[in-house]
Amino acid sequence: MSPFSTDVLIIGSGITGLVSALQLADDCRVMILSKTELGQGSSYYAQGGIAGVIDPSDSFEDHINDTLGAGSHLNDEEAVKFVVENAQEAIQNLIDLGVPFTQDHFGNTPFHLTKEGGHSARRVIHVADHTGRSVQQTLIPLVKNHPNIQIIEDVTAVDLIQENNTCIGAYTIHRKTNEITAWQAKYTLLATGGASKAYMYTTNPDSSTGDGIAMAWRAGCRVANMEFTQFHPTCLYHPKAKSFLITEAVRGEGGKLSLPDGSAFMHKYDEREELAPRDIVARSIDHEMKRSGADYVNLDISHKPAEFIMEHFPMIYQKCLSLGIDITKDPIPVVPASHYTCGGVMTDLNGETDLDRLYAIGEVAYTGLHGANRLASNSLLECLVFAHAAKKHILSRLQTCTLNTDVPSWDGSHVRPAQEYIMIYHDWDEVRRLMWDYVGIVRRDLRLERARKRIQLILDEIQEFYQTNVITSDFIELRNLVQVSDLIIRSASARKHSIGLHYNIDHPESVESPQPTILSPEESK
Ligand code: FAD
Ligand code: SIN
Repeated sequence: MSPFSTDVLIIGSGITGLVSALQLADDCRVMILSKTELGQGSSYYAQGGIAGVIDPSDSFEDHINDTLGAGSHLNDEEAVKFVVENAQEAIQNLIDLGVPFTQDHFGNTPFHLTKEGGHSARRVIHVADHTGRSVQQTLIPLVKNHPNIQIIEDVTAVDLIQENNTCIGAYTIHRKTNEITAWQAKYTLLATGGASKAYMYTTNPDSSTGDGIAMAWRAGCRVANMEFTQFHPTCLYHPKAKSFLITEAVRGEGGKLSLPDGSAFMHKYDEREELAPRDIVARSIDHEMKRSGADYVNLDISHKPAEFIMEHFPMIYQKCLSLGIDITKDPIPVVPASHYTCGGVMTDLNGETDLDRLYAIGEVAYTGLHGANRLASNSLLECLVFAHAAKKHILSRLQTCTLNTDVPSWDGSHVRPAQEYIMIYHDWDEVRRLMWDYVGIVRRDLRLERARKRIQLILDEIQEFYQTNVITSDFIELRNLVQVSDLIIRSASARKHSIGLHYNIDHPESVESPQPTILSPEESK
């Protein structure tokens, strides 16, 4: 085999990429392509934890009902059942690999389980308030030391390579040298995460530009439910804090929200108050901020003993302290920010997409689990369960699949170096501002229509630039960001009622039998 070919090509090195690689590598050769340093991505920043029925007093039925309740029953019930029932095996695998989950010496289980919005029981296993970092730090050395795993960092996948409706690899651009490479594989697995960077304010790292969704769309795959961007209610509000989340577990452990003048408000919106699902909490905060003119609201956990706060939220305590906020004494200023992409590339329960030999796993995918709003801590769970499912499916087909080595090389003959790249930075800011202002927490038809027209113009400009200029990694991310913004706007415009995370003032009511929004590249031509 050439150094540019492998059995399974994994694009992305968040929890999905790393777990998938470890799952597969004992039985075949795996290559991980990552545009960041290995292990980065939203996964690294996950705080709250991983949901699963672990306590004997909890039940599958309750976890299923909570997931359906948060998702306004727009979920695919088969997918919900599949994920909930496979959670224990997937979490046990992480325990076996050595993830140091926080222990509980007095509870029903060996591990401390926290509670988050929308959950009717304590069922979130975690490592203090830095679950993602601990998971990734456990997995990275295992991946690096595995003889069957090859790691290529600093490369951005540009597009999938396909032949006869089959995926046979991907092209990448090197982030520093701009060199383009064609990688060949029997199977390709998109693990590229979500698209929250489409919005001005986000809890996500810079890598969340929706690359996998845009690449799969261009390759002919359907996407679904792109209108459901989840806004996390509590992102730290401070000029020196970029994208720092204050975990929902703070509210789970008793944190209370109030306006800067001290008045509480959640009781006006939902009887579960701070523990209502996050679409309700985010919308309530948004409404109160707009109504009162406040720049932020406060989240206060200082009534809890200082030792409890420092033990459960050590990272948040340290981060806030470094900015002059002592959370054992002071409230934390917070605002909502875009956090999670509930929609994505449509897959079945094996993680397979519309394109043969292409899988999409993790936040890039739409499996039907989340419906109109994701239940807290169900995302890491979905990444794990589908990484296991895809592994089983790929290995069952591996022997019958041959590697196509006749991969077309990249044709760069028709392009010239761009005279300037200022438009990339301008469009980048414009798109994210536009999405925040017109396609945000609360929507209306006029704003969506305006956003649609503007995005179409930018899409046309980008396409022209792509056809005539030498590309860079930044440009590829912008191209994808604009592509997914267009998909979000089209999906939001198509849904003429309100449900879950999609709230349109012009259509505030829900409807009898809401359906997922499915967009097909074939029908969009
Ligand atoms: P990511 O972890 O985002 O990884 C994507 C990878 O793909 C990255 O390595 C990236 O560099 C790479 N990549 C992207 N595009 C390309 C490309 N074109 N070429 C090559 N590589 C590419 N969920 C929970 O369930 N529980 C939590 O407690 C929780 N807390 C969260 C806290 C924060 C601050 C954030 C941002 C999210 C949180 N979430 C949580 C959501 C959850 O972390 C993510 O949904 C999940 O980690 C997604 O994992 P992933 O592997 O699919 O993607
Ligand atoms: C959080 O810790 O609040 C984030 C949990 C999640 O996104 O599931």
